[in-house]
Amino acid sequence: MNKEELLKSLQPDREIIEQYMEQEIANVQDETLKNILTHALFNGGKRIRPLLTMLAGRLCAFAMTPEGVAEEGQLQPPENLYRLATVFELLHGASLLHDDVIDHADQRRGKPTANKIWGTSQVILAGDWLHATAMTMAGTLGGPEINTIIGSAVSAMIEAEFRQAETARTINLDEENYFAILRGKTSSLIAAACQTGASYVNENREYHLALRTFGDTMGLAFQVIDDLLDYQGDPEQTGKAVGNDLVEGKLTLPLLHAMENADKADHEQMIKLLKNEPELRKKHVEQVHDFIEANGGFAYAKEGAATLIEAGSEALELFPDCQAKTILLGLGQYVLYRQK
Ligand code: IPE
Ligand code: IPE
Ligand code: MG
Ligand code: MG
Repeated sequence: MNKEELLKSLQPDREIIEQYMEQEIANVQDETLKNILTHALFNGGKRIRPLLTMLAGRLCAFAMTPEGVAEEGQLQPPENLYRLATVFELLHGASLLHDDVIDHADQRRGKPTANKIWGTSQVILAGDWLHATAMTMAGTLGGPEINTIIGSAVSAMIEAEFRQAETARTINLDEENYFAILRGKTSSLIAAACQTGASYVNENREYHLALRTFGDTMGLAFQVIDDLLDYQGDPEQTGKAVGNDLVEGKLTLPLLHAMENADKADHEQMIKLLKNEPELRKKHVEQVHDFIEANGGFAYAKEGAATLIEAGSEALELFPDCQAKTILLGLGQYVLYRQK
């Protein structure tokens, strides 16, 4: 399945999800809040998380249907699964509003960030509004199990932000620590999105777990690629500035591996640079890029992401072959080669 076919097959679900998202903010009275929410939610997001919920639901529904009873295309997902899927895009939107404040980011999706336009206070509040709305939906639609899956994911995201800040402060170069941050800040929501789709349509724990594992590894790979794009991406495509991770003191996989490979003198010089003020680090983005390249950091991170996607694909082996499975596997490849 090539990229065009993949995107085309996801379009109908994407449109329905966007309609539900529009409904959620339709009754917001305050104009500024509504503008921030619109900017956060309708600004070119890829909708990966809610689409994963739908695909996981579709896959489990097909897997649970006795052979010959129905074609895959006849198994239309329940409306409330679309609403639940929407929860993940609202939470993702909230996390990006807050993330851009924390990261002092100026650009997202090729436009000025919300914090750049409206300032920190209002953007934090708009993020809180999205959180509250999403968690109300999760509690109402999902029942205790799904509510817990989603609530735990949000808690894990927040804890990971603390860990990331501490890692930057102490210049912790441990790779396991890096992956622990990714598990919290990115995988937890993606894994929850997959698990929720599975949990909503059937009670087979093995399926829930398989899809959670798929989401977990896919989430790790997704963030490793995001961290690569932070150094190597084309801002025209990513819509984000290059080098922001270095400026913010984030120690990502390409840099961690390069540090491990570097000789003593280069290593020490890099530590000195990391201890500098953000403004000074900003002037050395290109130098650090070349240091990572010379020490094999980019190739290592790319290989690591590929291995993770492979592991994620293996988690789906227990499911029968069908379109939903093909698309999920295709999304894994898409994550690996994405430019935005
Ligand atoms: C960006 O997520 C934040 C990360 C976890 C890397 P996406 O790349 O899914 O963002 P949009 O919604 O498609 O812009
Ligand atoms: C992902 O990390 C942030 C969240 C999971 C909210 P980044 O800080 O790298 O994401 P971008 O690059 O700003 O999208
Ligand atoms: Mg960020
Ligand atoms: Mg990033």
